[in-house]
Amino acid sequence: MEPLISLEQALFLGRGETRDLYRRYVNPGMAALLGSVGFDRRYVRASGVSVWDAEGNEYWDFLGGYGAVNQGHNHPRIVAALEAVREAPNLLQAALSPLVAAVAHNLAQITPGELSRSFFCNSGAEAVEGALKLARAATRKRRILYAEGSFHGKSFGALSVTGRSRYQEPFRPLLPETYALPYGDLDAMESALRRRDVAAVILEPIQGEGGVIVPPEGYLRGVQELCRRYDALLVLDEVQTGFGRTGKLFACEWEGVTPDILCLAKSLGGGVMPVGAFVTTPQVWDRAYGGMERALLHTSTFGGNARAMAVALASIQVVVEEDLAERARRRGEQALAGLRALQRQFPSMIRDVRGRGLLIGVEFEKPTRGLAERLTGGLINRAAAEFGGALVAAHLLDRYRIITAYTLNNPNVIRFEPPLVVSEEQVRRTLNALRAVLEEHRSFFSLAAGTVRSVLGERLRRG
Ligand SMILES: Cc1ncc(COP(=O)(O)O)c(C=O)c1O
Repeated sequence: MEPLISLEQALFLGRGETRDLYRRYVNPGMAALLGSVGFDRRYVRASGVSVWDAEGNEYWDFLGGYGAVNQGHNHPRIVAALEAVREAPNLLQAALSPLVAAVAHNLAQITPGELSRSFFCNSGAEAVEGALKLARAATRKRRILYAEGSFHGKSFGALSVTGRSRYQEPFRPLLPETYALPYGDLDAMESALRRRDVAAVILEPIQGEGGVIVPPEGYLRGVQELCRRYDALLVLDEVQTGFGRTGKLFACEWEGVTPDILCLAKSLGGGVMPVGAFVTTPQVWDRAYGGMERALLHTSTFGGNARAMAVALASIQVVVEEDLAERARRRGEQALAGLRALQRQFPSMIRDVRGRGLLIGVEFEKPTRGLAERLTGGLINRAAAEFGGALVAAHLLDRYRIITAYTLNNPNVIRFEPPLVVSEEQVRRTLNALRAVLEEHRSFFSLAAGTVRSVLGERLRRG
């Protein structure tokens, strides 16, 4: 047996040692993947939009924990909440928790319509699992409809409604009676609902991992009307779009839509604690879990623990009191305008810019067949087609110390999803950095070749 690593030692492990431990004990493929684009750095401190590496270099986080750090890293009020419950029992299931009661009360105040009963868990996927179970238990129906290109998490139930076959294939058979439909297509939705045998439709108001896809105006409202007409529940997954991200507290407010079940996670924990929740109406809750007999059909050991709930109270308060939705709207307008100007300047490189508030995706052009194809036997072309976004993200990190990432379902899209406390100056300088990267690499061939060169160089340097 090797000696155990203490916390004090772990905090000072170097980049190489960490990579090596990942290779041996965690996930060798992931260590290789992050290493190949230089993303295997060691960050030691974070505050607001900034993070610092072990050498003291400052970076700006334009990824924002995929929407989990809306309030900024280590917001002082959120960190102080942990301190406030330092001596409280963190887990004590044989009691009612005043903190759970308070978070549920506050969620009822800020979520739309009659949403008011909350269940607490520890992640987005778990919130989705809970929502799917609730929908089946409340309606006594089985069918669940979801959208192509969606992302709802990777546990079995959530994966069963995640519209990307690459993630689903290795794990089949998945949950039965789940059906994918094209996102944005109301006719397809109506055909699928007409038989009145659908328990629920689950959707993201904007598809995040699918490449930041904003549905056509009126789509969500249309789905809500169809669900009411054909007696199905509408589940909206606001795990990524919630808590101010799109310029409203919840993205469904853009269309005045109230779901029957709302899934939350990510920034509910302020980037500090894992917290997930679903919120539903009293009617839906009572149909599923009303009465003592059914009250414990769905539970979670860590759900509602004191530290998570203290942090959730502070996280919600920060979002509301600092008006982060309004800040996201203003900074989002600035970023979208700047990115659209870049698209006009580099039409052969940027195919599309889309999003709302500070959930923004930039889709890169797939390179045309031609010189690159002939020179590389298609290799670099293929890399650029599949990983154009990753290549740009690698350069933004390498040259400008700006952290971005590509979307999970669409690696040709990088996203701009900084904490909502990002400043005008930080948005402006990031746009300038992207312009410089694009100017330097007017074709994806040189971008891909540059990355291949720098990765090879790095490998050689590492020996
Ligand atoms: C819309 C949406 N739902 C669910 C999830 C899954 O959340 P978690 O990774 O906390 O399980 C994500 C994660 O990115 C998401 O974007």
